[in-house]
Amino acid sequence: MSKTTDHHPVRLRRSVLCVPADNARALAKVAELATDAVIFDLEDAVAPERKVEARQALVRHLTSSRPDCEIVIRVNGLGSGFGQEDLAAALAAGPDAILLPKVEGPADIQAVADWLTDNDAPETLRLWAMIETPRGVINAPVIAETGRTFGGRLDCFVVGLNDLRKETGVPDRPGRPYLVAWLMQILLAARGGGLDVIDAVFNDFRDAASFDEECRQGRDMGYDGKMLIHPAQIGPANERFGVEQIAVDEARAIIAAFALTENAGKGVINLNGRMVERLHLDQAKTLAAKADLIEKRKPRS
Ligand code: COA
Ligand code: MG
Repeated sequence: MSKTTDHHPVRLRRSVLCVPADNARALAKVAELATDAVIFDLEDAVAPERKVEARQALVRHLTSSRPDCEIVIRVNGLGSGFGQEDLAAALAAGPDAILLPKVEGPADIQAVADWLTDNDAPETLRLWAMIETPRGVINAPVIAETGRTFGGRLDCFVVGLNDLRKETGVPDRPGRPYLVAWLMQILLAARGGGLDVIDAVFNDFRDAASFDEECRQGRDMGYDGKMLIHPAQIGPANERFGVEQIAVDEARAIIAAFALTENAGKGVINLNGRMVERLHLDQAKTLAAKADLIEKRKPRS
């Protein structure tokens, strides 16, 4: 098992829109939206009696039109009675990743990783994990650490606060005062395992001001983006989880300074009266790469 905190290549996951797989109008709308990633949901957003229809609609949709963003499918858990058929449908639809709900320990990831290997899933197919139960939060470090060993597929955590509030009794309050500790625990676990981590949905999609506040909070906690439920949340999430021009300019200045011949081989340099080390160069490269990706996506927003 890798003990490093090496991160995978930079990806944009500022906005991660959830779309119920049985909602034809919503499915059709995705192609025109500037979301970085989409989660087609077969789990909570689809009633039990509509699971079959939802699977069929999703496979039909993705085989005929693929949105220009990262494509994720959320399946039901293997123990739910729907999971196996969801996985088969997901494999047929060919997403970039499969999102597993209510992950509580490494075995939940391993079972699906094994199923994928047994069913000849391409190696590029990633796994994302919802951390949304007390056991999931408690075990987040070991889930993240071992995630890479199961075929190396685990790539991203998504926090589910609606379920976590229900399980723990912590009420929904502005600023999420009693949830921040767990959010930071999950963030640390994700980073320790080299994973991305996405903040939870904000339910009141008409309350733009409070949504913006929560995006700022998620960003300041170190999250990569936010799981969304409505198209109106995409623009604000892209803005808040994006990069500020001043930070990009500074990053490019750091990269340029280390590229100077007089600084070749130096571990630390003086940049306009500020100490800059190679760890700052790494950060600067990540930020600049993110800015480049944002620039590429601009025409669609
Ligand atoms: N993805 C894509 N399009 C969406 C969407 C979504 N998540 N939510 C709404 N839209 C579309 C609607 O279809 C509508 O398009 P139309 O005018 O072409 O019909 C437009 O955006 C405006 O929608 P609006 O009328 O404001 O909301 P609504 O009443 O149709 O839907 C919800 C409200 C909450 C039911 C819906 O946003 C939704 O289902 N969100 C996702 C819920 C989910 O996935 N939950 C599980 C994870 S927590
Ligand atoms: Mg849930």
